[in-house]
Amino acid sequence: MNVSIIGTGYVGLVTGTCFAELGHHVMCVDNNVNKIKQLKAGKSPIYEPGLEELIRKNIKSKRLIFSQSIAEAVKFSKVIFVAVNTPPKPDGTADLSYVAAVSKEIALTMDGYRLIVDKSTVPVHTGAKVAETIKRYNRHHVDFDVASNPEFLREGSAVDDTLRPDRIVFGVTSKRASKLLRDIYAPIKAPILETDVESAEIIKHASNSFLALKISFANSLANVCEAAGADVEEVVTGMGLDRRIGRLFLNAGIGYGGSCFPKDVSAFISISDKLGYDFKILKTVEEVNAKQRELFIKKVEETLWVVKDKTIGVLGLAFKPNTDDMRCAPAIDIIERLQADGAHIRAYDPQAMHNAKSMLRNVAMCKNAYEVAKDADAVLVLTEWDEFKKIDLEKLRSSMISPILIDGRNIFSPRKMEELGFIYKSIGRK
Ligand SMILES: NC(=O)c1ccc[n+]([C@@H]2O[C@H](COP(=O)([O-])OP(=O)(O)OC[C@H]3O[C@@H](n4cnc5c(N)ncnc54)[C@H](O)[C@@H]3O)[C@@H](O)[C@H]2O)c1
Repeated sequence: MNVSIIGTGYVGLVTGTCFAELGHHVMCVDNNVNKIKQLKAGKSPIYEPGLEELIRKNIKSKRLIFSQSIAEAVKFSKVIFVAVNTPPKPDGTADLSYVAAVSKEIALTMDGYRLIVDKSTVPVHTGAKVAETIKRYNRHHVDFDVASNPEFLREGSAVDDTLRPDRIVFGVTSKRASKLLRDIYAPIKAPILETDVESAEIIKHASNSFLALKISFANSLANVCEAAGADVEEVVTGMGLDRRIGRLFLNAGIGYGGSCFPKDVSAFISISDKLGYDFKILKTVEEVNAKQRELFIKKVEETLWVVKDKTIGVLGLAFKPNTDDMRCAPAIDIIERLQADGAHIRAYDPQAMHNAKSMLRNVAMCKNAYEVAKDADAVLVLTEWDEFKKIDLEKLRSSMISPILIDGRNIFSPRKMEELGFIYKSIGRK
């Protein structure tokens, strides 16, 4: 089938490339000229394992093309996915101006039936607003459907998540829309849940909010374990063996970040408030998350006694491993706070340094972990990259001026670190 995707970011680019890999003919559109130029040259503007190879392969087989024109995309395909950004506004609600602008532009150029599929994460009732907008600007008075097809991919494993998802959800209002979406997804073996549009929209917010809740629960537990002299890793392992609970997303650390969880939790709180329900649990999830970062900074301050003029090495900047995405990364807050206290920061991240450079000031970016540790008074682990788990710890310690390692992701064993002569602090462990 011919498929168009508007918005060629983490979601749109991965989805479009994977649809091409499944055999469809795909046009990916973005209004960022540089992005499209790079993509036409076979270069991925983002780091995502396996993505660039798939982009090149599918450009070569002529199943994947790129454009800056929504009008071209509307002409190219009967089905148009919208995967533009929906960033948070200062009041916590989602900024839907990109979705609205794209909806209007699609409507103005439609000259026959089109199915507009929202893949961006949006508050409930956005589908209805998109339908209203399209109706308003539908100057050729053609038939159309609006569907919701929330995206659950995770950055860092986005290609695999798209080709082998746990489930595919679509909210539709007609058999025609259902059939088109089923045809597009036919090559993927995964359960399909077909719902009304409102339920599909809520499934996405509910899923991310629940995952954030698990993280905040684990972080709260970590604080109790630390005070009680217990080990949170053992506690969550014990809990996770219960199939009703599960071990995933019960990791204590420095709190969640990234472009999705913070914005989706706060958008879900706002939409619930607007609908007349005070979603208290989620407000606490946010509070616990913010507090967890504070507690980590406090731990650094207490360990160093005086932060001013100390050299602090940072391992990991991205909000999670295997991505170059720095949006709402906890590292930003933590580094800025320590800089405000007078610390000098040296940092290394395997993929995110080019993005971090534009978001952080006065950070010495290093070539590797050992360079970060050189003459450092302390080293902090802020992202759990596999590369850091394999570090030669003796070599790291020997280049530090003082052997303090504060692990915000619990990647090392406290006993081993002690044996190696580190002053080691982690989260929720003795
Ligand atoms: N990143 C994730 O892990 C993830 C996962 C699931 C869902 N989502 C949701 O998917 C949506 C997209 O997220 P993302 O991370 O891919 O965002 P992104 O910022 O990486 O990509 C969005 C793209 O849309 C483009 N765009 C904006 N307005 C446009 C317009 N008028 N015409 C053409 N292109 C336009 C931007 O230039 C950008 O390249 C968001 O709603 C997000 O919440 C993201």
